[in-house]
Amino acid sequence: MSAFPRHLAIIMDGNGRWAKKRLLPRQAGHLMGANGLKRIVKACAGHDIKYLTIFAFSTENWRRPPEEVSALMSLFIQYLTREVKDMAEQGVRLRIIGNREAFDPPLQRLIEQAESVTAHNTRINLTVAANYGGQWDILHAAQTWSQAHPGQPLTAMTEHDLAAHLSTAGMPDPDLLIRTGGESRISNFLLWQMAYAEFYFTDILWPDFDEAALDQALTWYGSRVRRFGKTDEQVLGESV
Ligand code: FPP
Repeated sequence: MSAFPRHLAIIMDGNGRWAKKRLLPRQAGHLMGANGLKRIVKACAGHDIKYLTIFAFSTENWRRPPEEVSALMSLFIQYLTREVKDMAEQGVRLRIIGNREAFDPPLQRLIEQAESVTAHNTRINLTVAANYGGQWDILHAAQTWSQAHPGQPLTAMTEHDLAAHLSTAGMPDPDLLIRTGGESRISNFLLWQMAYAEFYFTDILWPDFDEAALDQALTWYGSRVRRFGKTDEQVLGESV
């Protein structure tokens, strides 16, 4: 039995379908999704989940219609400006992972400000993956290591070295991934980091994913026996 996860990762899928069902523009679904996120962050902090990492915008999401991309960017900007004070008060440490170079310079500055204003908070670490891709993260880590070790061949790099150069360096790996919206894939999210995560897929669309749905996922997680490559007998022997 695994109690609560220390690190929960979420793919917040289904905003577009939620809006379509109500004959609303897709952007309305993203807005509801962003509101729902605030409640889920609070609920996670209440459960003493120390790390919450969410997929807000993938490297592939630039392919969406320009008006949807710009609506998502506006939401992101609103989140970074309006919510930061609240987050700081609630003890949320905010970090953004992903390739920031693609964002407009003012957005890059907002990200830096939000990170520095919340840098001393310890209640919960909220990490927002924006312009993020797991393959990018691994490649970037290898390149960063290589630059930091001039003259050394890549064969000298260990798994530990690579992990220490990922965008999540210093955080524990996710224990649980929740994906809403009925799809059963990980869509280039934290590929390296989720090697031993438990995967929970639900048909609930992200704007409908509330505290009760979170509790259901956490109860499911609590019933999993995490073997990390060992046998059931070995794991059960360790817990007595
Ligand atoms: C997937 O739903 C969701 C996204 C691509 C964006 C997620 C963004 C938010 C929840 C709000 C913004 C977050 C922050 C931090 C401001 P989809 O559009 O793929 O839905 P669909 O599969 O039903 O079309």
